[in-house]
Amino acid sequence: MTDFHTHILPGIDDGSQDLEETRRLLAQEMQQGVTRILATPHFYAGRDTEEHFFRKRERALRSVREALAAEDIEREMSAEADLNPTHKTRSRVLHTKEETVQAGDLPGRQEPAGSGHLPEPETTKSSGAEKKIIPEIRAAAEVYYFPHMGEADILPRLCMEGGNLLLLEMPFVQWTESMYRDVERILRKQKLTVMLAHVERYWEFQRDKGVWNAVFDLPVYPQINAGSLLRFRSRGFVLKFLRAGHQVLLGSDCHHSEYRPVNLAAGREVIRKKLGEGALKEMDLLGEELWEHAGK
Ligand SMILES: [Fe+2]
Repeated sequence: MTDFHTHILPGIDDGSQDLEETRRLLAQEMQQGVTRILATPHFYAGRDTEEHFFRKRERALRSVREALAAEDIEREMSAEADLNPTHKTRSRVLHTKEETVQAGDLPGRQEPAGSGHLPEPETTKSSGAEKKIIPEIRAAAEVYYFPHMGEADILPRLCMEGGNLLLLEMPFVQWTESMYRDVERILRKQKLTVMLAHVERYWEFQRDKGVWNAVFDLPVYPQINAGSLLRFRSRGFVLKFLRAGHQVLLGSDCHHSEYRPVNLAAGREVIRKKLGEGALKEMDLLGEELWEHAGK
């Protein structure tokens, strides 16, 4: 499962303010079974210098990766310690994190979020063969629209690491033809893959649906915030949008573990109930495809 929209990197935008908060958000991601996280700090052209943005993002990303790696090593050591030699006859088998933990009765460690450690992912708590997965995190950005961005040569650097997936935040006004042309240029001239951030948030500004319809006739990927499925006000629109056949990607747009938490599991549950398991499977397949192959 992938979270395509997060403000999980510490100290870079209005999302997580420090590594402790990032740990709490990571804990929520893992508890909900998220295995891939796209880190998408806000990028506003003209507000921050490009080099400053990339430097801050790199530093934040490194700190998160180090925290995840340390946690992974600690878990391995803890799991090994749990394999008490006196219990060897119970034939417990522990493999690496890529493999399966077959010791159904391995004692699970549970620690409260915010304790400085990441709690065990949900999938490792129950008995039986379960996978133990530390999520993969990749840097990207949530790039706010700016005029003539179709020609901007910075865009490839703002895409998902190792790919050409660009998370584009459109303006919260009536969309215009020049905005449409920029999106089109990003696709056709720059040959980037465009994911439109939280599409449910623009709809109310589109009195004239002409540009909206034209944009969604382009090969763009709409991203929906999971929270929009949990609020009565937006749920109707989102379900209608999904039923119209749009292939969407889900993101939490998490900023803070209490105020704007990771809520993918709850959002997915609404999709499962209203549209069935197949809709989720399709979404996950698309997510996997873009994560692995966008731009390759
Ligand atoms: Fe966002």
